[in-house]
Amino acid sequence: MAATSSPIDQLAQRVEGLTLQNVAAEFPFTHVDVNPYDFWRAHLTKVLNGITGVDPKIIYPTINWTSSLDKGDFMVAVPAFRIKGAKPDVLAKEWAEKFPADDPLFEKPTPTGHFIAFFVRSKPLVQTLVPQIRKLGDTFGRNTYDGLRDASDPSKGQKKILVEFSSPNVAKNFHAGHLRSTIIGGFLANLYDAAGWDVFRINYLGDWGKQYGLLALAFELYGNEEELQKDPIDHLYQLYVRINKEKEAEIEEIEALKKEGKDASELEAKSKDEQARQYFKRMTEGDEAVLARWRHFKDVSITKYKKTYARLNVYFDSYSGESGVSEEAMAKTAKLMEEKKISKEDNGSVLVDFQELVPGKEGKRLGKTVVRKRDGTALYLTRDISELLNRAETHNFDKLYYVVASQQELHLRQLFKIIELLDCKEIAKKCQHISFGMVLGMSTRKGTVKFLDDILNDASEHMHNVMRKNEDKYAQVANPEATADTLGISAVMVQDMRGKIINNYNFDMEAMTSFEGDTGPYLQYAHARLCSIKRRADLSEEAIASADLSLLTEPHAINVTRMLAQWPDVFQNTLKTLEPTTVLTYLFRLTHIISSSYDQLQVVGSEEEVKKARMALYDAARIVLANGMKLLGLSPLERM
Ligand SMILES: *[C@@H]1O[C@H](CO)[C@@H](O)[C@H](O)[C@H]1NC(C)=O
Ligand SMILES: *[C@@H]1O[C@H](CO)[C@@H](O)[C@H](O)[C@H]1NC(C)=O
Ligand SMILES: *[C@@H]1O[C@H](CO)[C@@H](O)[C@H](O)[C@H]1NC(C)=O
Repeated sequence: MAATSSPIDQLAQRVEGLTLQNVAAEFPFTHVDVNPYDFWRAHLTKVLNGITGVDPKIIYPTINWTSSLDKGDFMVAVPAFRIKGAKPDVLAKEWAEKFPADDPLFEKPTPTGHFIAFFVRSKPLVQTLVPQIRKLGDTFGRNTYDGLRDASDPSKGQKKILVEFSSPNVAKNFHAGHLRSTIIGGFLANLYDAAGWDVFRINYLGDWGKQYGLLALAFELYGNEEELQKDPIDHLYQLYVRINKEKEAEIEEIEALKKEGKDASELEAKSKDEQARQYFKRMTEGDEAVLARWRHFKDVSITKYKKTYARLNVYFDSYSGESGVSEEAMAKTAKLMEEKKISKEDNGSVLVDFQELVPGKEGKRLGKTVVRKRDGTALYLTRDISELLNRAETHNFDKLYYVVASQQELHLRQLFKIIELLDCKEIAKKCQHISFGMVLGMSTRKGTVKFLDDILNDASEHMHNVMRKNEDKYAQVANPEATADTLGISAVMVQDMRGKIINNYNFDMEAMTSFEGDTGPYLQYAHARLCSIKRRADLSEEAIASADLSLLTEPHAINVTRMLAQWPDVFQNTLKTLEPTTVLTYLFRLTHIISSSYDQLQVVGSEEEVKKARMALYDAARIVLANGMKLLGLSPLERM
């Protein structure tokens, strides 16, 4: 026996007929090293195979997790065993009856209708799980086998995913859609990273088009380099708003003249709109002077973006943008679409009529869309097609997620369909729109939202006021501003991720910054409390590791451990749902159970051996809570 055998090795030695080698050989898709419950499932499969004679390959995948502990730790639906003729409820009773009463890992099961609920025995669970979690630390729950191209041969490399998210428009305001895209995209990138994928994060900036000609013109007229350096986002935004107003006023004036039958051509020729058009034309023609200025705007903006994204633990591998797609690439795409008869001329403009290309309902739903206007400007669908083909060439990806608001659904459907029609079915299949709903009622106290920073600062300020209401506690916080900031950001993020992402939600500053209810501050509080217990217990890691875990016999201790054991399964399930709420729902269930245990399971003040054992349990709980929070993009606080 190896001197450093892991807790799960030790468990395996106590279960007859089931070595880790056996599990790996018989159930090659299991990973006992990262998900201890795979061992329990393998064992249960063997026992059920003995009772029913059903093929283990059928049994294993039917062993399901449960959504609450009173339903058991695992659940099996008898009809899933596909036994013909027999009544499932009769079989359930019969099998439960035959289940050995002295099974080392499971209690005698209870049949309920067509289902059988299985409860794990607490002793081997506690003694395996707690040390295993402490051993794996911040990797507990991750399952990096998912990202391998070939799980049995890691040398074949990782799968690659591109996640396009956030993607604000330089110069325009950062609206709620960008906020959600940033939070959800950051979460998905973390998720795939933890699942062992090679993740490439793309911020595809809106940075091209006539409006940028307008912005450049505004800078020429009213801009100030010093202010640009100081706060680029704000300065460019102010300039844009100002010139846009002037432009609109001119347009009105021109319309009015025309209505009166007067000549407006002179006014039109020197209008802001026309100047912007010409400016943008110079940009597209590659005029170095105007391009240099444009790059400068973009660079200072990106520098500022990066600082704000860091507050959300978000970063990007690439800041590309619409400007990165060359006119040549778009011309090539346009030609390809024409050759494949996907696009057609229609009175000077070029359009794609899906009703002609795609039969039935789908074609109707996709409708008709213009890809090039009569004046020759290509629209952004053409740009997006070129960009996608380019990404496929550069990255050889397995998946590409577009984390974009649900309003863009038709646009993305059209994009994927055109890619498919261009004989790139394989690429189209790898693309997915991660669609999310709207944030309702988002504004800050200072008025309209200009940038992400405004939202976060507002939440941070609000949080600071909430904290100040409890003067005694506030006085003890070492760094109240920084704490309020982290709490405020957690409040915004958790509120955003609390429901299914496709649903709209109300931006509610009061509710999200409360310490009560399922909020970000509540999660942070739960984590900080676990950290505080560890500080006050003042035990060395060795002392905790040497704890006699057989002392953890209280129902609360057992239930906390049962919840902790589910975390790797919750992670796997999240990879299927792609919903941050899968993680959050679990974390809130976990924190509720932990907080109800404090009165029963005191650490400080308990007898030394009991103290060590309980500390080990709370430390395992702290690890799982922190792992879940980090997966969501939160920064767990140690003190508050
Ligand atoms: C597992 O349980 C969930 C709900 O708890 C259910 O939606 C799902 O269909 C079940 N899966 C199997 C394989 O029984
Ligand atoms: C532990 O979970 C069981 C369900 O398995 C429940 O009946 C019991 O009330 C829980 N005990 C505590 C102390 O929470
Ligand atoms: C083509 O476009 C012009 C200008 O918009 C319009 O006057 C004309 O009616 C259009 N012709 C057809 C056949 O749609």
